[in-house]
Amino acid sequence: MNPKVLAIEPSMIRAIAAKKQAGAIDLGIGEPALLPQQRFIDAAARWAAEHGVKYTVNAGDVALRELIAAHYAFPGMGAARNVCITTGSQEAVYVAIKTLLDPAVDELLVVAPAFPAYAKMAQLEGIASRAVHMRADDDFRYDVDAIVDAIDPATRMIAIASPANPTGRVLRDADARRLAAALLARPGAPVWILQDEIYRELTYVDDPGSIADYYPYTIVANSLSKSNALTGMRIGWLIAPGEVSDALVKTHAWVTSTASSFGQRVALEIFREPGALQEHAAWYRAQHGSVTAALEESGLRYVPIDGAFYACVRLPRGGDAMAAALELVERRNVVAIPGGTFGASLEGWLRISWVAPADDVAEGLRRIAAL
Ligand SMILES: Cc1ncc(COP(=O)(O)O)c(C=O)c1O
Repeated sequence: MNPKVLAIEPSMIRAIAAKKQAGAIDLGIGEPALLPQQRFIDAAARWAAEHGVKYTVNAGDVALRELIAAHYAFPGMGAARNVCITTGSQEAVYVAIKTLLDPAVDELLVVAPAFPAYAKMAQLEGIASRAVHMRADDDFRYDVDAIVDAIDPATRMIAIASPANPTGRVLRDADARRLAAALLARPGAPVWILQDEIYRELTYVDDPGSIADYYPYTIVANSLSKSNALTGMRIGWLIAPGEVSDALVKTHAWVTSTASSFGQRVALEIFREPGALQEHAAWYRAQHGSVTAALEESGLRYVPIDGAFYACVRLPRGGDAMAAALELVERRNVVAIPGGTFGASLEGWLRISWVAPADDVAEGLRRIAAL
């Protein structure tokens, strides 16, 4: 067996979720509760009835890649060649880390608290990774100076998600510009940014920023999982500069060959229709209002929610968040994820996902406050 695989722990999020009892309030897994837009699935099914469900070229259907490149229109990344369709953003992130980093010399810097997969994927590949922790006393705001100061000579890639899972913080436009300027000013080989934009459509601030708009050494990962409630469709993509994109496609081709062509067809229908990526955003905005009110009412300390569908709440009487999450799931019928899953800076916190009906979220928060 590969010792790297033996050494790695399975997902804590799934382990807690597996303990869920019937009738529990599920604030655990990060999956939209809305249904996807059926018309896109129907249109793809009609297309498949006529054309079959065949392989596409490795990088994915050219028409879809053109639409995606044009939709985001990141500087220097506006052509089909810049896009590779992947099996969710999970594969996108994995392929980016595997392709860009040399396990012998390079390091991945993860802006934490963070989605655990970045560090685990690096571990699987034998690539060193390190976290730069945003501070609880700053409500985990993205601190550009701290990120830049944490770069050391081995750092070749920085993984950053905005909006963030788990904190829901958003990198503001001014900060995206500052980060790009600071990275461009550094001498030597460029440090790549892996920008995870899977929650891009779900923001509740006026000025979200995208580093890819300002920094040419950016690779963007995204998917339809959250924006269009298509987690199980497994369609994501990478957007990258030309030569890097070619290398990403090479890795992707050996890992998965192609993403699901039925899923790609659904994606094509979505990208063809202006506004389709944003269709669920109004629901999340309304829910964000209700959840923020419930958080205020709970008396719990919480991190301001700029985006995504998570909230981080501090344990009311301190203590171990893992023990609290087990108490909640085993005796109080609430699923919540211990903060330590996302990095040491979130020890003593719980992450809740607020896609459940607003009354359930409020009741879940009351049970957490009563811990
Ligand atoms: C920040 C972040 N990135 C990537 C993913 C992977 O999602 P998918 O592979 O469904 O696109 C998730 C899933 O929860 C996530 O929260």
